[in-house]
Amino acid sequence: MQTRLTDRYDIRFPIVSAPMALVAGGRLAAAVTDAGGLGLVGGGYAGTASGEPELAAELEQVRGRPFGVGFITWALEKAPQRLDEALAHGPACVFLSFGDPRPFAGRIHDAGARLICQVQSLRHVHEAIDAGADGIVAQGTEAGGHGAGRSTLPFVPEVADLLRQRAPETLLLAAGGIADGRGLAAALMLGADGAVVGTRFWACQEALTPSAAVERAVVSTGDQTVRTRAIDALRGVPWPGEFSFRVVENALTREWAHRESDAAARYGSLAQAYDEARARGDMDTVATVAGEVVGLIQGRPPAAAIIDDMVNGARERLQRGCALDFRT
Ligand SMILES: Cc1cc2nc3c(=O)[nH]c(=O)nc-3n(C[C@H](O)[C@H](O)[C@H](O)COP(=O)(O)O)c2cc1C
Repeated sequence: MQTRLTDRYDIRFPIVSAPMALVAGGRLAAAVTDAGGLGLVGGGYAGTASGEPELAAELEQVRGRPFGVGFITWALEKAPQRLDEALAHGPACVFLSFGDPRPFAGRIHDAGARLICQVQSLRHVHEAIDAGADGIVAQGTEAGGHGAGRSTLPFVPEVADLLRQRAPETLLLAAGGIADGRGLAAALMLGADGAVVGTRFWACQEALTPSAAVERAVVSTGDQTVRTRAIDALRGVPWPGEFSFRVVENALTREWAHRESDAAARYGSLAQAYDEARARGDMDTVATVAGEVVGLIQGRPPAAAIIDDMVNGARERLQRGCALDFRT
């Protein structure tokens, strides 16, 4: 399955695993790359948040293979030395999301890595092009974790049109709501060179995800996720206001998700309780971070099986040309 993404990164399939904070460790990234995709290690909050694994140890696990590393851009601004530490491991790309990538672009390119920017609006696309991004990830609101308001289906082709005019050499990837062959085929049809997959890999054997969270997700439908700013406010994580957090419903979201201004007024009041809940696996207090595709996920297979299934399903649909029988 060849696209500009597979050519440029010398990989077999146009699938990139998302650099999910606290979830995408070296074991997951290595498994994705070994199965023919491009595995990304989640550098998350660049060591500035509680519960994060030691990045250097995770990067050791992908040694000898193509891999990438991702950071939450506004957090990297507080610990910019983490970027140099990651670059010393020789990533093929650095994936930046949620902030202005321009201050970091020079160091990434000087180290011989490519810059991939995840974007949530057209303003972000222009910033990414100005930063000299080699790839742009158009992230739809369906996505698990942090994101914004645009939907994958119209956002990806709109970004494709813009790139065709302003930066035709820049790769385009789609993210948000892609979990199987149908999603991958759709992403390619929308004009993307490949897909960034988060939640589907979040529920795979090699991810660092606690099993209590996966157990909750597999019995949830896509109706049972919610996007809110309240959780970050309560736990005192200073996310810029343009981004919100998609999580699976639980006691915490039922109480707070729709009371964002009340939560803002109590900024940080749950910080300690939240960390303690995470440590003891209390999934009523701590958020299960996953996207709308939880409704498509039934189990926790190895990453290689997910990639196999996604590639075979997409190939079959693309060869058939259209879903004549939409039930299969
Ligand atoms: C558990 C989880 C953690 C995430 N953490 C990050 C992160 O640290 N940095 C980032 O750029 N994106 C993060 N994302 C968003 C992904 O990059 C990606 O946009 C998203 O997972 C794609 O949508 P999907 O979940 O429907 O596959 C996270 C997503 C999930 C599910």
